[in-house]
Amino acid sequence: MSLLSTPAQPLVLIRSMGPAHRERVARHLLALAPEDRYLRFGYAAGDAHIRRYVDGIKFGRDDVFGIVNRRLELLAMAHLAYADAPQRPSCAEFGVSVLRHVRGRGYGKRLFERAVIHARNQGVEQLLIHALTENKAMLSIAAGAGARLVRDGSETEALLQLPPANFDTLLGEVLQEQLARSDYRWKRRVHMVRQWLSG
Ligand SMILES: CC(C)(COP(=O)(O)OP(=O)(O)OC[C@H]1O[C@@H](n2cnc3c(N)ncnc32)[C@H](O)[C@@H]1OP(=O)(O)O)[C@@H](O)C(=O)NCCC(=O)NCCS
Repeated sequence: MSLLSTPAQPLVLIRSMGPAHRERVARHLLALAPEDRYLRFGYAAGDAHIRRYVDGIKFGRDDVFGIVNRRLELLAMAHLAYADAPQRPSCAEFGVSVLRHVRGRGYGKRLFERAVIHARNQGVEQLLIHALTENKAMLSIAAGAGARLVRDGSETEALLQLPPANFDTLLGEVLQEQLARSDYRWKRRVHMVRQWLSG
């Protein structure tokens, strides 16, 4: 699993997001269609639910990763929430969403890989994904990474055992983050110039 590009996997820059990006995260989730909100949250999340969810993200404790376009819109994002349940020590839960018009480009899978590397570097031993059984794309990503799928009617729990961090995961994450941050800064400058030019 490489975080950087290979001939088969073009480079996708994923950066970690902080509290300054909360509104961007909200805009991304609010743009999801009702059926995608259902797949993402497991219930028919209205705008107020999404606002509460976003307000509740504990940046600094949880991790959020994102892929932005040139206009700095968040095209895809993943939330890695660390569990504090005693029956599941060193476990993190993964949630992801990709805007419809950019699906099928591998963003969901790359976000998953990024979260796996980060979780390993944090000493997390298990990654948990709650998905609806009908969610073929999410379950395909989890199964492809070797997760054990436990179906319980309309819901499926995917549990991936994570090996410990190593030199590659540590270095790979630092490089990916540096590249993604430089790219973001550059996009932000271009965006500001464009806005200034358009008055
Ligand atoms: C699930 C989701 C994130 C996938 O994003 P994506 O960027 O389109 O997925 P990718 O392009 O990375 O595809 C990942 C894999 O799923 C497979 N896949 C995609 N759509 C599929 C479908 N409808 N049925 C079966 N497999 C599918 C792809 O072929 C790919 O497998 P491969 O790597 O073996 O080729 C996206 O569909 C989404 O945002 N859904 C709504 C929110 C959601 O369901 N979140 C997950 C619950 S937390």
